[in-house]
Amino acid sequence: MAELTSAESRLVAAARSAREHAYAPYSAFRVGAALETESGKLFAGVNVENASYGATVCAERVAVFSMVAAGERNVKRIAVYTEAPELSMPCGMCRQVLIEHAPGADVIVAGPSGARTTTLALLLPEPFVFEVSR
Ligand code: THU
Repeated sequence: MAELTSAESRLVAAARSAREHAYAPYSAFRVGAALETESGKLFAGVNVENASYGATVCAERVAVFSMVAAGERNVKRIAVYTEAPELSMPCGMCRQVLIEHAPGADVIVAGPSGARTTTLALLLPEPFVFEVSR
């Protein structure tokens, strides 16, 4: 696995630390995410589960929603950290949310086995888009 840049490593550390706050009593699968905006700001997210399982929100989306709530828009890179034995990739729903707010982002997936950097363009090559002015 290729070495991470220092910016990537910093983001992985933030995702790993955020994971401590994951609320995952049902699956026990704790996920942390951290994103960096083009303006250099960091936003973290964790998965927040619910007794009504469908109300669960993934860590990646919590990070994006937190960024939007703070008035920011452009994601440069996002890191996702789990303790899964193999690297865990963002789910389809998170890819769809990320394509809207982070179409050019690098995606770093990380865990105890190491880390890998890919891009959102590779993870969701032919997305649904609905053109409106934002
Ligand atoms: N989960 C995430 O936080 N991100 C993903 O990309 C995939 C899944 C969470 C949702 C749920 O709380 C747990 O992992 C098991 O699916």
